[in-house]
Amino acid sequence: MKKIGWRSPSNIAFVKYWGKGPGQIPCNASISMTLNAAYTDTVIELHEKHRNDIEVSYFFEGKINPDFERKILVYLEQTKDFYPVLREHALTIRSENSFPHSTGIASSASAFGALALGLLSASGYEEGDFNQRASFLARLGSGSACRSIYGGYNLWGKLDGQSNPSDEYAVPLTEIHPDFQQMNDAILIVDDTPKKVSSSAGHHLMKDHWYAKNRFAQADFHAKEMIKILKTGDFQQFSSVIEQEALALHAMMMTSAEAYMLLKPGTIRAIEEVRKLRNEYKLKICFTLDAGPNVHVIYPKDDEKQIVSYLEDHLRSQVKEIIYDSMGNGPKQLMIEDN
Ligand code: PMV
Repeated sequence: MKKIGWRSPSNIAFVKYWGKGPGQIPCNASISMTLNAAYTDTVIELHEKHRNDIEVSYFFEGKINPDFERKILVYLEQTKDFYPVLREHALTIRSENSFPHSTGIASSASAFGALALGLLSASGYEEGDFNQRASFLARLGSGSACRSIYGGYNLWGKLDGQSNPSDEYAVPLTEIHPDFQQMNDAILIVDDTPKKVSSSAGHHLMKDHWYAKNRFAQADFHAKEMIKILKTGDFQQFSSVIEQEALALHAMMMTSAEAYMLLKPGTIRAIEEVRKLRNEYKLKICFTLDAGPNVHVIYPKDDEKQIVSYLEDHLRSQVKEIIYDSMGNGPKQLMIEDN
C-alpha cells in the first residue's frame, strides 16, 4: 500500500486576517511567522477504490473523528478537481498534532497545510509551482493555512505597490534583517478551554461591522509597515505594530453586532507584565494574540536565556503553562516506507 506524509507547522499572524469574502478571499493583507514545534503530521494511505464518489476515512490522533471527517469531506468536494488521487483511490488519512488542543495555536493552519501538501503529492503533482498551488489549496480549507506552506515570514493578500502578493496564496518574505532571522514565541496558556465562537463566525461578523472599512485599511497599512520593519530590524516599531494588531483583532470581536470577548483577566495581567518587562527591564519582548485568550510572547532568539528566566520568574506562576516555540523552516515531506 502506498503512503505519503507531510509535516506542516502552524503559524502566528503579526498582521491579522479578520474578515473574508467567498472562497476565503481576505478583506486585508496579513503577515505571519511560521512556527517550528507546533505542527501537524498527516499520512495519506492509498487504497483500491470501490465507489465513484470520494472515499475517505479520517483518523485524528489514532481515533475516528466524525466531526473532522465531515469538514474534510466538505473541503474535498470543493477541491476534488485539483486532486486526481481522489478519483483513483480510496484514502485513509491519519493526522496528529505535536501540540495540545485549545492552546491558542492555530491547528486549522497546520492541519490544512499538511492535508493540501499530502493530497497534492499523492496526486503526483510535481510542477515548479508546487508550493504556490499547495498554498492556494490550503487557503480553501482555512485562510491562515495558506501561510503555513513556507518557513520564516509570509505575506498573504494583495497590497498596493507590491507586485507579488495575491489574495489566493501566500508568498514568503525574503528580505529579512539579521535581528529578525531567529525569533521565538513563548505561548502563555492562560486558559485552555475550547473557544465558544469559531473563527468563521468571527470573520462573518466583519461583514456589517461599523469599523470594518477602517480596520481593513489599518491592516493593509500595518502589512506595509511590517514589511519595512522586517527589513530594517526596528524592534520598537515591531512591538508597536504587532500589539496594535493583536488588540485591534479583539476590539473587532468586542464591538461586533453579536459582541463577544475571548480575553480573560489572566490575558490582561500577562499583557501588563510583558509591557512592564519591556519598559522597566528593557527586554526586547512584545506580545500578540490569536483568536483566544492565550498570549504569544515574541522575542529574539539571541536573548532567549535572559528572557526565558524573566518569563519563568514573573509569569510562570500566573499562567497554566508556557509552551516555548520558535520560527521554523516550513513543511517537510515525511519519509515513510511503503508496505
Ligand atoms: O484561518 P482562519 O479562518 O481560522 O482565521 C484565522 C484568523 C486569525 O488566526 C485570528 C488571524 C490570522 O491571520 O491568522
